[in-house]
Amino acid sequence: MLYSLEAGGKRIRPLLLFATLEAFGKDPASGAEAAAAIEMVHTYSLIHDDLPSMDDDALRRGKPTNHIVYGEATAILAGDALLTHSFRLLADIPEQVADASVKLGLIAGLSDAAGAEGMVGGQTADMQGEGKELSLGELEYIHLNKTGRLLAYSVLAGALLAGADAHTREKLSKFAYHLGLAFQIRDDILDLEGTEEQIGKPVGSDEGNKKSTYPSLLSLDGAREALLEHLAKAKEALAGSGLETSLLEGITDLIGFRNS
Ligand code: IPE
Ligand code: IPE
Ligand code: MG
Ligand code: MG
Ligand code: MG
Repeated sequence: MLYSLEAGGKRIRPLLLFATLEAFGKDPASGAEAAAAIEMVHTYSLIHDDLPSMDDDALRRGKPTNHIVYGEATAILAGDALLTHSFRLLADIPEQVADASVKLGLIAGLSDAAGAEGMVGGQTADMQGEGKELSLGELEYIHLNKTGRLLAYSVLAGALLAGADAHTREKLSKFAYHLGLAFQIRDDILDLEGTEEQIGKPVGSDEGNKKSTYPSLLSLDGAREALLEHLAKAKEALAGSGLETSLLEGITDLIGFRNS
C-alpha cells in the first residue's frame, strides 16, 4: 500500500479538494482526511488498472507497477485494503470539522463515485470496449465514469465540507463534468505523444490494448480541439459560481496543459 502511495503522482484530486475549500474561504486543512481518502481510492484504481488482466502495464509513477514488485495477489489485496481504508478515514474525520450528516454525505458520495455506477462502471465499459470502435457517446460515458467521477467527487467533497448550497453545488458539478473529460482527453493525448520519462508510465498502452480514445476517434487535432472546448466550458461554469475561483482556474489549466 505504501509503495504505490509514496511513489508520488501529481496529487491532482487532493489539490482540487483544497482549492475548492479555498474558493469558499475555508481552511484547506479541514480537507486533509477526505483528500487522503480520495488519493487512496485513486491509487487502488491505478494498482488494479495496471494488472495483467487489465491494462497489463509495468510502469507507474516512474516505478515498476505494484504487481511487478510484489506479485499479483499482493497487488490485488493492497488495492482492496486502500479502498476499504479510505472509508475508515472519512468515518474518522473529527467532529469539529464535519458533523455526522456531513460525514454520511462524504461516505455516500465516495461510494457512488467509486462504485459500479461510477469509476468501476467506467473501467468495466473500458475493458468491454477493447478491440471495438466505440461511438463518441460511448467513449464519453467511459471517460466520465472511469476518470471524471472521482475528480468530480474531489470538488463535491470540498463543497460538502464547506456547507455549499444546492445552486453552488450545481455550478461546481458542471465545472467538474468538463474538467473530468478534459483530464482524460489529455491523458489519452499523452499516451500517444508523451515520453515515458515525463508521464512515468508506458507510452502507447492504449494502442497496444486496442482502446478507443479521443485521438483514435477524432484524430490528434480533433482531440486537442475537444480538450480546449471542455476547458473553456469548465471555466465558464466557475465564473458563474459566485466563488473566489482563481486556484480552481489555475488547476484547470494545469490539467489541460500538463505534460505528466
Ligand atoms: C491517471 O491519473 C489515471 C487516470 C484517471 C487517467 P493521474 O494522471 O492523476 O495519475 P497520478 O496520480 O498523477 O499518478
Ligand atoms: C484508467 O484510465 C483510469 C483509472 C485507473 C480508473 P487509464 O487506463 O487511461 O489510466 P492510465 O493511462 O493507465 O493512467
Ligand atoms: Mg485503463
Ligand atoms: Mg491504464
Ligand atoms: Mg491512459
